[in-house]
Amino acid sequence: MMEIAATVAVANRTRHCLDVGDLRDAEVDTILQRASRFRERCESPGPRSERALPPTLRGQVVVTVFFEPSTRTRLSFELAAQRLHALALPFDIERSSLRKAETLADTLSTLDAMGVTVAVLRHPDNDVFRALPPSLRLSLINAGNGTQAHPTQALLDVFTLHLHWPDFLGKTVVIAGDVVHSRVARSSARLLIRRGAQVIFTGPPHLLPEAAEVEIPGAVCAPIEDALPCADALMCLRVQHERHRSPAESGADADDSYLARYGLTEARFRKLKPSCLLLHPGPVNRDVELASALVEHPRSLILEQVHSGVFVRMALLEWVTGVLS
Ligand code: NCD
Repeated sequence: MMEIAATVAVANRTRHCLDVGDLRDAEVDTILQRASRFRERCESPGPRSERALPPTLRGQVVVTVFFEPSTRTRLSFELAAQRLHALALPFDIERSSLRKAETLADTLSTLDAMGVTVAVLRHPDNDVFRALPPSLRLSLINAGNGTQAHPTQALLDVFTLHLHWPDFLGKTVVIAGDVVHSRVARSSARLLIRRGAQVIFTGPPHLLPEAAEVEIPGAVCAPIEDALPCADALMCLRVQHERHRSPAESGADADDSYLARYGLTEARFRKLKPSCLLLHPGPVNRDVELASALVEHPRSLILEQVHSGVFVRMALLEWVTGVLS
């Protein structure tokens, strides 16, 4: 599966973020540094006035258009927009003209005509960004499309790891689980490799990409027992049942649980390096992809990822709107 090019950006100078490939290395650095400043400011022990964020997005209108369920991605975009004084409008698909057969392209043109400046779109279709009008003036941010891409999750994963590692050289990140259906795995692996990490995919053999190294140059696949001892960070993935054709596709039935066969049990956790960090994009299915007790383990960064996600999305909103250059 190829990385999506920002095809809609060709016709005008609007910035979009459809996958990590839309960001040059220097732009990734700028966004991560800005997110870091937001974080420092919000967490400063000083008086409330020193923790206040600048109203850099005043006048911007950010609409979140989510065709799939979401807690952290949608709310963190809305929070990020509001904290920088943009208007944040959740788009209610069920009460919209999409239910009167309006196309998504026409809906986005309509939002554009009303003065919306950023649309944050989550959609089940891998090709959703290929069919959008080239004349759009609003910026598009991909909040996850099909199995293809989830660039803001990749940015926040990298940001979270940077809180622990100054750089990624010599670091190995193991991404474990339903990789073939995971947009998080694709975008995060691409960005981690660009920043110098080695990426190993592991999981049920039929849920690993057939030619990972072709799809994501630099990534390799390995059996779980071989991959775990190499990990400096382990990212567990939820089984994407909604993208499976049958319930059996996870490769485990009721008597033969996914956790025991492929998940991070406490016994497998003990085979990791003692410093190995634990990531998960959420939502977690406890006792499926990882043992419930590990979610709160001191080396688990799962809520740290959520926390960082707001700052990263603030910085990305500034970048797409041109506030951050
Ligand atoms: C992921 C997604 O929607 O792709 N969640 C997220 O955005 N944090 C992963 C998942 O749903 O399993």
